[in-house]
Amino acid sequence: MKFFIDTANLNEIKEAYDLGVLDGVTTNPSLMAKEGISGDENVINHYKAICNIVDANVSAEVIATDFEGIIKEGKELAKLDDKIVVKVPMIKDGIKAIKYFSSEGIRTNCTLVFSAGQAILAAKAGASYLSPFIGRLDDISFDGLDLIAQIVHIYQNYGYETEVLAASVRHTMHLVKCAELGADVVTCPLKVITGLLNHPLTDKGLAQFLADHAKANK
Ligand code: E4P
Repeated sequence: MKFFIDTANLNEIKEAYDLGVLDGVTTNPSLMAKEGISGDENVINHYKAICNIVDANVSAEVIATDFEGIIKEGKELAKLDDKIVVKVPMIKDGIKAIKYFSSEGIRTNCTLVFSAGQAILAAKAGASYLSPFIGRLDDISFDGLDLIAQIVHIYQNYGYETEVLAASVRHTMHLVKCAELGADVVTCPLKVITGLLNHPLTDKGLAQFLADHAKANK
C-alpha cells in the first residue's frame, strides 16, 4: 500500500519524506488556505516547492467547476512538473474533464467521492486515482470503511486500473483497516503516519534493553 501525506505544510512533507516511506502528497484548497497560501502565483510557487521536496506524485486541485475552466487549470497545473496529478471534483464537468485528461495522458485524482456509484463513474472516465473520504462519512454516521471495501470489490470485479486512494483518514486504525481491505493508497496527516510507530511494549522493551546494557557495561 502506498502512503501519501495529506497536507500543504512543507515541513511536514519534508519530515514524512525523510522517513523514507512516502509515495506522494495530496493537497486541497482548504489545506493550502490553512498554510496561508493565496493568489495564483503563490499557489503555483507552493506546488513547485512541494515538487522540489519529494520524488513522488503531488495532487494539485483545480478550483474551476466548469469543463473549460477545469481543462485550462488542469493543463497549467500538469505543466508545472511531471509529478503533478490533477485533482478534479466528482461533478458532471469533472467526469468529462477526467475523460479528456485521460485521453491526453494527464493523470487525475477524482476527489470528494462518497458513494460506489461515483467510484464506478470515475473509473469509467479513466481517473488515475479515486479519493473516497472515510472520515467525513464517519462524521455523518455512515461507515467510511464499508465504502472502501465496496469500491475495492467492484474495481476487482472489472479490473479497473483506477487506484483506490483512501482519503479523509483520521487515525491509525483507518489506515490499518484500509490495508486489510486492499486500498491501493492511503493519504493522511503526518500524525497518522508517525502514529504507526507507537506501541507501549516497544518503549518498555527498549528501556529495559538499554538499562540491561548499561548495567552490564558499567
Ligand atoms: C483528500 O485528498 C482530502 O484532501 C482529505 O483527505 C480530506 O480530509 P479531511 O476530511 O480530514 O479534511
